[in-house]
Amino acid sequence: MIKLATIETISQFEGQDVTINGWLFNKRSSGKIHFLQLRDGTGFIQGVVVKNEVDEEVFEVCKKLTQESSLQVTGLVQKDDRAKSGFEILVKSVKPVQIAQEGYPISLKEHGTDFLMENRHLWMRSPKQNAILRIRDEINLAIRMFFHDRGFVLVEPPIITPSSCEGTTELFEIDYFGENAFLSQTGQLYAEAAAMAFGKVYSFGPTFRAEKSKTRKHLNEFWMVEPEMAYVDFEGNLEVQEQMIEYIVQRVLENKQIELKILDRDTAYLEKIKAPFPRITYTEAVNMLQEGNYEFQWGDDFGAPHETFIAEKFKKPVFITHFPTKMKAFYMQPDPENPEVILGADLIAPEGYGEIIGGSERIHDLEFLLKRIEDEKLPTELYEWYIDLRRYGSVPHSGFGLGLERTVAWICGIDHIRQTIPFARTLNRVYP
Ligand code: 4AD
Ligand code: MG
Repeated sequence: MIKLATIETISQFEGQDVTINGWLFNKRSSGKIHFLQLRDGTGFIQGVVVKNEVDEEVFEVCKKLTQESSLQVTGLVQKDDRAKSGFEILVKSVKPVQIAQEGYPISLKEHGTDFLMENRHLWMRSPKQNAILRIRDEINLAIRMFFHDRGFVLVEPPIITPSSCEGTTELFEIDYFGENAFLSQTGQLYAEAAAMAFGKVYSFGPTFRAEKSKTRKHLNEFWMVEPEMAYVDFEGNLEVQEQMIEYIVQRVLENKQIELKILDRDTAYLEKIKAPFPRITYTEAVNMLQEGNYEFQWGDDFGAPHETFIAEKFKKPVFITHFPTKMKAFYMQPDPENPEVILGADLIAPEGYGEIIGGSERIHDLEFLLKRIEDEKLPTELYEWYIDLRRYGSVPHSGFGLGLERTVAWICGIDHIRQTIPFARTLNRVYP
């Protein structure tokens, strides 16, 4: 019996005959030899079909194979140092499953981004796209492992919500049996409720922002992991964040070397992403910008060039702490020593990838929270359940949100966030 192998695990089969279930990514042929570029979802490998060494029928079948034909290939696994996988297959037989129609849209020439996004369902088969989404899978798993191993309970917040959390202007509204409801911008408020029930929790799910931003960093639907921790303060919150980022990066380095190579990612740089990370206050960041000749006043929000300028001063992600209270969401705890600023931080990734985490200590005092809700003119009745958390056993607590796609973009070193999610939802695209 010939063994079924995957390309990812091919090194275990050196010197043996195996079968691979896959697709033809590309083909080069001469009169005497076919080079089949094969993919099976786990990786890419070359199959070599030599005319004099296979049945005539096998060689003839290979002539008919079009790009993306599905096929089962059997052959001998040999070492090949030039290959990214480190191996190639000396083909003995080929069984087509389907000969793909001529005219596969993602031909091997260059295509414009709009065309590629229109064909995202096919584009995800290409090596770079495939590598990005496989790294996304690893990051996803790393996040879950990190929190699970540290005793956090996964609690899923609802996606359909009655009220806003991160400001009222970016909500997708839906008709909920005649009532107004919204797609969730964040699971945080529900995670806070769960933290009072379980101590340490995290939510991890899709979130929605009706932002009309057309940038390299914005999606209208993105995934966020949101830990929330009872009895943890501002400082403890930052420590969890830097440990989590180190853990994610080091796991990707451990398990996704081939994918990083496909993406030409500089791994020496990623090796250095270890906790602790530098911290500067918002006020210090403003001074840095002013010294760098930026027109920037205390109270202004950072744009992409500002974040990039600050990030360039550090080789690791950098925390910007103590933002002005009036810039941030209603739930953030002001610093008791200076209530003009909050006990929260954004984590800015290096190389211009911008903010990947936003987090803070939360207001735990009942009267103060009521005042903040009033100040922000939020409808108190919709927050009654959230206010209850301050009526019954309120404790200092903290949490944060990490954007999965921005993290994937940074670790992969790619230029646009739309490539980091299987099917991106952006300002002008809801297809496919
Ligand atoms: O800073 P944000 O808006 O924070 C919150 O939503 C908090 N409730 C999180 C919490 O404390 N539990 O968003 C958190 C992160 C950002 O740092 C960014 O990585 C990502 O979510 N993010 C986006 N990613 C892609 N596209 C967008 N439009 C994003 N908006 C935020
Ligand atoms: Mg933010």
